[in-house]
Amino acid sequence: MSAISVSRFQNLSYDEFRRRAVDPTLSPAEKIGFPDAYRAGRSESILADIEQKLPALGSIHRRILDIGPGCGELARSLMERCQDRQHELVLIDSAEMLDQIPDQTNIIKRAGRFPEAIEGLDGAPYHAILCYSVIQYVFTEGNLFAFVDRCLSLLADGGRLLIGDVPNASMRKRFLSSPNGIRHHQHFMQTEAPPVVEHLAIEPGQIDDGVLIGLLQRCRGFGFHAWLLPQDASLPMANRREDLLIEKP
Ligand SMILES: C[S@@+](CC[C@H](N)C(=O)[O-])C[C@H]1O[C@@H](n2cnc3c(N)ncnc32)[C@H](O)[C@@H]1O
Repeated sequence: MSAISVSRFQNLSYDEFRRRAVDPTLSPAEKIGFPDAYRAGRSESILADIEQKLPALGSIHRRILDIGPGCGELARSLMERCQDRQHELVLIDSAEMLDQIPDQTNIIKRAGRFPEAIEGLDGAPYHAILCYSVIQYVFTEGNLFAFVDRCLSLLADGGRLLIGDVPNASMRKRFLSSPNGIRHHQHFMQTEAPPVVEHLAIEPGQIDDGVLIGLLQRCRGFGFHAWLLPQDASLPMANRREDLLIEKP
């Protein structure tokens, strides 16, 4: 995959995802903003990594919320897993995205943006909340703190919130400054030149260590356990993305 094809997946937004969802020329992975090479055939390994962090998924009869499921393979694998395990699964995304995925008896679809779209649903708490590859859009378009605070308020005792697959600009810079990262860049870009990494630069719209560690500290201050965790090394963007896992004690 070339750098040019990757640039087709930058500067996405909630409204751009709505447009992509109904574009018949795009594959399921492309509709949710990923080149096929990053996601096609990967949903089982991604879900296995998620399940390690959200053990409620492997249990039975739990209440699960997926914020921003999109309409790709991962959404479908999660739906299947929830049907097998007799979970109730609530999905919140745009109507255009939710229309792309089949209805199932154990699923409630709520169209709209979180947190607004959760209002009016019955107030029973959730044993697991998944928000995978979503908060980078909330960071640029909404209020990330209000988003996470509302997630915390929805957790059952012992419940977990996984804010997963978060692109961390600081982590990417650390990687690209390392010998492994330089080799990765040279191979990907088909060049002998090393990557240009600016360490002391303002990075508008980018989540970085400061944002993630601030969120972690905020959740801990509210009485929740919170950890920053690596993704399984086999996942497509594990060298520059990480997961924030929060548990209501
Ligand atoms: C990159 S896709 C990720 C899809 C899926 N979680 C996955 O990893 O396969 C981001 C999804 O988040 C949705 N989204 C963005 N902001 C949202 C919000 N505030 N509430 C609900 N969904 C949102 C988009 O519509 C899109 O479907």
